[in-house]
Amino acid sequence: MRTADIGVTGLATMGRNLARNFARHGHTVAVHNRTESRTKQLVEEHGHEGAFVPSSSIEEFVSSLRRPRKAIIMVKAGPATDAVIEELAACMEPGDMIIDGGNAHFLDTRRREAALRERGLHFVGTGISGGEEGALHGPSIMPGGAAEAYETLGPLLEDIAAKVDGTPCCVHVGPDGAGHFVKMVHNGIEYADMQLIAESYDLLRQALGLSPGELAEVFREWNRGELESYLIEITAEVLGHTDPATGRPFVDVVVDQAEQKGTGRWTVQSALELGVPVTGIAEAVFARSLSGHPGQRAAARSLAGPAAAAAAGAELVEDVRRALYASKIVAYAQGFDQITAAGEEYGWNVDRGAMATIWRGGCIIRARFLDRIRTAYEADPALPTLLADPTFAAALADAQESWRRVVATAATIGVPTPGFSSALAYYDALRRDRLPAALIQGLRDFFGAHTYQRVDREGVFHTDWSGDRRERPA
Ligand SMILES: NC(=O)c1ccc[n+]([C@@H]2O[C@H](COP(=O)([O-])OP(=O)(O)OC[C@H]3O[C@@H](n4cnc5c(N)ncnc54)[C@H](OP(=O)(O)O)[C@@H]3O)[C@@H](O)[C@H]2O)c1
Repeated sequence: MRTADIGVTGLATMGRNLARNFARHGHTVAVHNRTESRTKQLVEEHGHEGAFVPSSSIEEFVSSLRRPRKAIIMVKAGPATDAVIEELAACMEPGDMIIDGGNAHFLDTRRREAALRERGLHFVGTGISGGEEGALHGPSIMPGGAAEAYETLGPLLEDIAAKVDGTPCCVHVGPDGAGHFVKMVHNGIEYADMQLIAESYDLLRQALGLSPGELAEVFREWNRGELESYLIEITAEVLGHTDPATGRPFVDVVVDQAEQKGTGRWTVQSALELGVPVTGIAEAVFARSLSGHPGQRAAARSLAGPAAAAAAGAELVEDVRRALYASKIVAYAQGFDQITAAGEEYGWNVDRGAMATIWRGGCIIRARFLDRIRTAYEADPALPTLLADPTFAAALADAQESWRRVVATAATIGVPTPGFSSALAYYDALRRDRLPAALIQGLRDFFGAHTYQRVDREGVFHTDWSGDRRERPA
């Protein structure tokens, strides 16, 4: 019986909650998992929440779907996804859709989409953010693939997505791998956001001697203003938490080595390929890497630090808040630049304002701030950098003196703030009339005859550095 509106195969944390979300919204959901016990458990524990159609084989799963069939894969990213795609495709017919909701690399998604398109099937690589809770209560959904597939699939996804002011946090991002790309950049921005929050905490604790509990209050207060966001909110929760076993602040009993699953690294790798300086994300990835080298850290512990601590007053709290906001604007501006560059490289034409709109709810970086980004791109869809938007430019002007004091204070007392410092350097570099890149061009021409252009006339030139030092057109 072909009764199900949509199917989910892979019923671990994410798939199971996504299936429940569809069922709770009145959709009949076909469910399947390689190990059948997971399917049975889902139906036993949550069968009452809606209409589930369990299957013990992929064939049965596919035949329980209404045409055009829509099957979401929520399995471990990588070879498992390819294996499941192959099993599904073998039982499907032209016009059917395979939706990959896992964290696939966008280049894999491009490859899979092209291969399935040849077979007449739609492949919709879909970024899903919000973790376990989001999958159940409303994630932010970033589907790629053909616009034609979105016409039938979109309404189902929009139904289960988070809503902000009645608008679903789901939109067709663009063709083939665009959805997974944007999800990857979202995760990269999440890395940068968390790094900046961590630096704020560290600097205020070191400079002012505030306790984690006192800092929880600071973040709680910040969450009432322009920094209002999920990450700031949970920072207050984590800092305010006491370890029940020892009575110490929770943050003090956690090993200080940050792990990563790889999407931050992918974002930076892609940015390097595209030539987009995503310094905020890169510094965040490197800071996590550095934290994970305990041997080097132990060997360096006795290296010299600053002689005396700088005098820092309570006004540092407000300075750090402003520096955090300014650095966050830079990190987001860079992430959006990467989306623009990828759109040009891969022919996607992503609507950046729409991305800001669907990140307002459901996902980890959800924030009040995203409304401002949406407004900026609505006012000027061709905005060359978010920093040039009049609202953000004014916010940066307002924050910059504080930002400079924060970076100077951190350097003076020896607290590392790579996120703040690199964001400020980016800001200062971008607004410069002349950059020292001119000298670099001179050096390249000197040692490698790499040539240069001049400010005063057209053409490409080389100076005969080892000879008469005369300039000739190259
Ligand atoms: N966890 C999150 O917060 C989160 C957020 C966003 C996206 N994601 C992505 O969503 C996907 C699912 O995540 P998850 O945490 O729910 O699950 P997971 O731990 O990544 O994967 C476990 C699932 O994959 C299945 N599986 C593994 N190898 C398979 C194979 N060769 N053939 C068929 N099935 C196979 C498992 O089936 P068995 O039960 O038979 O082992 C199980 O259903 C992943 O791509 C993940 O990166 C996760």
